[in-house]
Amino acid sequence: MKFDVQIETKCQGINWDVQDQYHAISFPIYQTATFSRSKLGETTGFDYTRQSNPTRSQLESIVAGLENAKSAVAFSSGMSAITAVMNLFNPGDHIIVDADLYGGSVRLFNDVCKRYGMTFSTVDCSTENVEEYITENTRAVYLETPTNPMMHVTDIAKLAEITKSHNILLIIDNTFLSPYFQNPLDLGADIVVHSGTKFLGGHHDTIGGFVIVNDAELDEKIRTILKTTGAGMAPFDSWLILRGIRTLAVRMDRAESNALKIAEYLSNSPYVTKVIYPGLKSHEGYEIMKKQARGFGAMISFEVVSKEFAVEVLNNLELFYFAESLGGTETLLTYPITQTHAELPKELLERNNITDRLLRLSVGIEHSTDLINEFERVFAIAAKNTL
Ligand SMILES: Cc1ncc(COP(=O)(O)O)c(C=O)c1O
Repeated sequence: MKFDVQIETKCQGINWDVQDQYHAISFPIYQTATFSRSKLGETTGFDYTRQSNPTRSQLESIVAGLENAKSAVAFSSGMSAITAVMNLFNPGDHIIVDADLYGGSVRLFNDVCKRYGMTFSTVDCSTENVEEYITENTRAVYLETPTNPMMHVTDIAKLAEITKSHNILLIIDNTFLSPYFQNPLDLGADIVVHSGTKFLGGHHDTIGGFVIVNDAELDEKIRTILKTTGAGMAPFDSWLILRGIRTLAVRMDRAESNALKIAEYLSNSPYVTKVIYPGLKSHEGYEIMKKQARGFGAMISFEVVSKEFAVEVLNNLELFYFAESLGGTETLLTYPITQTHAELPKELLERNNITDRLLRLSVGIEHSTDLINEFERVFAIAAKNTL
């Protein structure tokens, strides 16, 4: 990009690296599998869409800009992006992973990567000394911050000092905060992954993922994996995410301001036994968040008085949805124990306190009063039916 501009401006997709020939304001969808060559040995830079496509390249260049990175590679889902990162490693390699992660990532490590001879140590990166788990085979530390769903916060810069001194990679899943609120590469991480399905896309209408790096050799390896495994993002999905990113800043600001009001409301509810939101001063990660992020995000986990109460809440929602996923304009309430974390080994569920009383809220951009009124309404029904 030619100019040094703020993230709100970067979101508008003004990108002087890839220029459409007709200077379309909305970047065109290059819905083509292949590209012709005028002569042997000549190329427009695009040959075959599995390898690269102009709409995907435009998106990659904007996402790289949002993370202050040299390069971003766009995949067909967050999971295919994380799989590509795992494909960097070899049998015998040891990876330290945080104890609290999206359930699909845990399944990838346990059910796929282990079959290829990789080994894993599960560590609470926010409280434990990660250095004690590093062995001569350790190649990387992988974590989310805040974590899904328990919102643990890890000091990225502090951990980066450790990983750099041992010459191992620090990989951060930055999905929960989005690049609008946090840029892990600036804090010393080596690889950032995103589920683009969430805040980047922002409308619950497409699936995508990103691997973002500053290192040319890593970029080359990831692009070779993408080209070889065929997990690249399709042109139309790339366009949807380009469009979603245009409003990233305003969506994140509104969703965060709603989240703070809802977290305060939930904290005062007699039916809620615990509220976990890193924007509350009582959260143990609050000071680290203030240091390393520009905002607290729009994800809240909370525990209610009983399993029966939780089920009644989920079954009686009218204004927002009982659904998996997060990061869209509409508010979603998720039940981690049967949805996002359903397949987690029992010992991890217990270790992380993911109980049948835990609900996870992805706050949208509706009016906060309406959202709070909906909680009042469903809490009254749940109380009447269960207490
Ligand atoms: C934190 C996090 N990372 C990765 C993923 C996987 O992304 P996708 O569903 O786009 O494959 C998810 C999905 O919920 C997630 O919550």
